[in-house]
Amino acid sequence: MELLLLADPSEDAIKEYLDDSRCFVAYADDVAVGSCVIRPIAGQMVELMNIAVSPSSQNLGIGSRLLRNVIDEVKKSGAKGLEVGTGTFGYQLSFYQRHGFRVDRIDKDFFLQNYPDPIVEDGIQHKDMLRLTLEFGSVVQIGGIPRCLEN
Ligand SMILES: CC(C)(COP(=O)(O)OP(=O)(O)OC[C@H]1O[C@@H](n2cnc3c(N)ncnc32)[C@H](O)[C@@H]1OP(=O)(O)O)[C@@H](O)C(=O)NCCC(=O)NCCS
Repeated sequence: MELLLLADPSEDAIKEYLDDSRCFVAYADDVAVGSCVIRPIAGQMVELMNIAVSPSSQNLGIGSRLLRNVIDEVKKSGAKGLEVGTGTFGYQLSFYQRHGFRVDRIDKDFFLQNYPDPIVEDGIQHKDMLRLTLEFGSVVQIGGIPRCLEN
């Protein structure tokens, strides 16, 4: 939960989707340093509900490797693609786009309507959510070597 709260400030929201989701965990020396939660949604798509890496392990490539592994697992499952909701600015947006996600639509006022406290990054309040999709069949070129992760 400590990890999941880094990506989603609402424990209630996390608990609501955790039961019917799959959670992937990245370990370093037997310590959980990253997590990613996915669940099936309509149209044979899978939604990435949460991805987080512990602050002291961020920026080391763990999140990218975790996401690549999850993309591979979702592809193998036969789903049509992966969808994620994120803010309209910030490094997280580039993080997903670097892995081939593209903007699909905008959920206006999402953060205003669903979170009681303002979510502020770089001095700007998040108000709208971008919905991004990665549809399988598109070519994504990413460097690096995937490593084993526990499911
Ligand atoms: C998003 C997150 C999962 C990425 O994991 P990570 O292990 O840090 O990612 P990587 O090391 O593979 O780096 C991916 C990119 O994000 C950038 N990045 C990672 N953490 C960053 C930070 N705190 N501030 C700015 N940029 C950051 C890296 O510089 C890298 O960019 P580059 O490829 O141009 O060098 C992780 O930063 C995190 O847990 N953030 C907090 C939770 C969160 O916001 N989750 C996503 C919700 S939409």
